[in-house]
Amino acid sequence: MKVARFSRIGFILAASGSAIGLGNIWKFPYITGKFGGGAFVLMYLVTVVLIGLSIMIAEMLIGYLGRADTVTSFEKLAPKNKQFWKYGGFQALAGLLVMIYYSVVIGWIFNYIVTSLSGLPSSVDEAKTIFSTMLHSDFKTQLFYHTVSFALITFVVARGIKGGIEKLNLVLMPMLFIIIGGMFLYATTLDSFHQAVEFMFKPDFSKIDSTAFVTAVGHAFFTLSLGMGAIMTYSASLEKGQNLVTSSIVVVIADTAIALLAGLMLFTFLYEYGGEPSSGPGLVFISLPAVFYQMGILGNVFAVMFFISLAFAGLTSAVSLVEPMIQYFIDRFSWSRIKASVLMGLFFYLVGIVAILSQLDSFSSYLTWENKNFFDWVDFFTATFMLPVGGLIMSIFVGYIMPKSQVEKVLRPQLGRAFDTWYFSLRYIAPISLVIVMLNLAGVIG
Ligand code: TRP
Repeated sequence: MKVARFSRIGFILAASGSAIGLGNIWKFPYITGKFGGGAFVLMYLVTVVLIGLSIMIAEMLIGYLGRADTVTSFEKLAPKNKQFWKYGGFQALAGLLVMIYYSVVIGWIFNYIVTSLSGLPSSVDEAKTIFSTMLHSDFKTQLFYHTVSFALITFVVARGIKGGIEKLNLVLMPMLFIIIGGMFLYATTLDSFHQAVEFMFKPDFSKIDSTAFVTAVGHAFFTLSLGMGAIMTYSASLEKGQNLVTSSIVVVIADTAIALLAGLMLFTFLYEYGGEPSSGPGLVFISLPAVFYQMGILGNVFAVMFFISLAFAGLTSAVSLVEPMIQYFIDRFSWSRIKASVLMGLFFYLVGIVAILSQLDSFSSYLTWENKNFFDWVDFFTATFMLPVGGLIMSIFVGYIMPKSQVEKVLRPQLGRAFDTWYFSLRYIAPISLVIVMLNLAGVIG
């Protein structure tokens, strides 16, 4: 059915674009701050290499061999019980759920690009007021930018893999690398740089508990875009004969590099101008603008560039979050791409409005359960439940359900002797860690 295929560089950039997102630049630095730096970073890095890379290769393999939407790929590749295994593909729904808040956050970023042009808050308190006013009482601004974000994302995915998604990534990703790279280089010239390095790379294991472990594993999945069929859907549009292993390695390295560079740069700025690394989700929206203010005119330029790069990272991830369900409706229900794109867009747009409402002072009481509002629930449920479950399904499917010979045929030539290590990690290390994460979440242990 599918004709448009990624070029090799297009695929690498699109998969990296999916992986490098708000998770890298917004979430990674603030959770690193929250869990005290070094030891957490180390755990995250180990998880990324040991579990993340193994599952990335497995997920690419399913897409590459299935060559269809996620549901069809599972159905095709399951040697028996096809009607059962096809449900593995419904992990794709998680992407659409993530979009409910992802689009809203991209909207905030657009708002910050525009407001940084005119001026920055002169103190952390002022920055706090600005952010919380937007969040808790300014429905109009949030709705406006959420609408812009919905329109842009829907426009790109409606144009398809080649004309939309590949093009977007070919343009935005190199610019993202340049902006983050340039700002990082500037950070290395500041005195506080070594302090940032120390914070991020000197492990203090007293800060580590089971919550830190669960967060690190969850984040490794989120940041690599695993467990939701995004990478799987992209791989279905890969030319035959491509090397899945090198592609996975490149994506993992690029994703990790951007997270580390962004973290080092942000912490350098914070230390240099007296901000707090542990300030939580408001880190880039509150502490950072106040820090940029201190830098004078250069700070203004940096603020605009920084939020532009964040928007780019967000947009290239967003298209990968909606594409799996679009592909599903195109393949299985013969919808046109336009129809599928618009309907998926409307779904996250409309439910996204509920997410905005759930944070407003005037509405939050109707949309809050167990101390978490609707917005937080969506984030919590997808990142800490659906992603690990998705990862578990993929590791079991490739590790136990697909015949080993079929897996080996593609991957042995690419992995060489590392094949057995990979297969072991996929069959044992990945599922066991994921089960620990889930038990921990269920409150059974830890
Ligand atoms: N990886 C992205 C980030 O770091 C988020 C993301 C995009 C994602 N596509 C995904 C997460 C698919 C899980 C699955 O922000």
